Amino acid sequence: MKISVIGTGYVGLVTGTCLAETGNEVLCIDIDQSKVEQMQNGVVPIYEPHLDILFERNIKANRLKFSTSLNEGLDHGDIIFLALPTPEDEDGSADLSYVLGVAKNIGKAIQNYKVIVDKSTVPVGTSDKVREVISKETDVEFDVVSNPEFLREGFAVDDFLKPERIVIGSSSEKATALMKKLYKPFVRSGNPIIVMDERSAELTKYAANSFLATKITFMNEIANFCEKVGADVDKVRVGMGTDSRIGKRFLFPGIGYGGSCFPKDVKALFKSGQDNDYEFNILKSVIEVNDTQKKILIPRIDAYFNHDLKGKTFGIWGLAFKPETDDIREAPSAYIIEALLKKGAALKVFDPEAMQNIEKKFGDTLTYAKNMYDTTKDIDALIICTEWSIFRTPDFDKLKSNMKNPVIFDGRNLYDLEDVKNEGFYYSSIGRNTTNS
Ligand code: UDX
Repeated sequence: MKISVIGTGYVGLVTGTCLAETGNEVLCIDIDQSKVEQMQNGVVPIYEPHLDILFERNIKANRLKFSTSLNEGLDHGDIIFLALPTPEDEDGSADLSYVLGVAKNIGKAIQNYKVIVDKSTVPVGTSDKVREVISKETDVEFDVVSNPEFLREGFAVDDFLKPERIVIGSSSEKATALMKKLYKPFVRSGNPIIVMDERSAELTKYAANSFLATKITFMNEIANFCEKVGADVDKVRVGMGTDSRIGKRFLFPGIGYGGSCFPKDVKALFKSGQDNDYEFNILKSVIEVNDTQKKILIPRIDAYFNHDLKGKTFGIWGLAFKPETDDIREAPSAYIIEALLKKGAALKVFDPEAMQNIEKKFGDTLTYAKNMYDTTKDIDALIICTEWSIFRTPDFDKLKSNMKNPVIFDGRNLYDLEDVKNEGFYYSSIGRNTTNS
């Protein structure tokens, strides 16, 4: 099949590359000329595990191409994926200007039947808006389909190639048949292609992400309460998660959820509720609790150093919003950095992938360490913000000899309490007793 993907962010690039992998001829369009040139030269512009191998293979096989010309894209594809940004507006709602702008151009350029697929996370009713905008410009037959993505950064390729489910919102049999044909190779395992109306498909994405964000937030509150009553959240988590109605996943407490999806989607669903005369009280709390959770380590650090952080130096391990990505959007680390700088502390930071992105944001206000141990030289305390595997088994002796004080504030519960205690550390984590050697 001939596929065009408009927008080559995380979602567009993974979608285009993985669709080429099953033999489709894919043309990816982006307005950013230097990015397109980079991709034409075989360079993947983002860090996403395994994407580079598929990318190279499909470019070589002539199945994956790139262009800045929207018209070329609209001409090429029988199916046109819209993987465009839907940034948060000032009021929290999703900004649809990119999606509707491209829809208008589609209306102007369309010559024969096309299926337009909304891949971006868009509020309920957007497919109707896209249809309306295109219809104003043309009489040519087309269909609009909602096909939300459920890709996790760091696992996006695997999630695309082996999805647990594909959701297709479509009211056209012709479009549904084409979409099913396109996705058939990805659901050989028997996982379902779930077809529903467009509005339900659009809401499915928001409901799924908001539910997961709520699950994490609930666990963060339980963790905070554990500290008040002397319980251990790791034990509570296992005790709860073994109930199959609850499930073990997404119960890990920490310093809040971040990333490009959860924060934006929870806010957008809340705003969408208000626009439709419905108050999502639960989501309001989720947003508030998560904002506080991101900064939960700050008062602890402050108290430990007698409310005077001027002249203190802290090391930070982990800057990306989660492991296996270089993405720092809504990362708790950024909130912690801002708060500590404001209190006059100096910071040395390290992340296996996100150094460039954090440097773009913070410039020369931070010291950028060469590796994880370099971060710890002469620091007053170590703060862990992201649970990269490399941080899980440090050489504690090396840490102790590097650091001024053996003090760790861990926002991701990486270590066993007994282990760090035996190693002689003051160790403060989330939802567990603070150990003091
Ligand atoms: C998410 C959804 O999982 C994906 O289906 C959707 O399409 C896009 O948004 P992603 O943002 O890549 O994917 O990250 P995810 O792995 O879901 O983690 C989101 C956030 O939750 C991270 O900040 C992570 O640290 C946090 N998290 C996750 C927890 O704090 N605890 C957990 O138990 C799980």
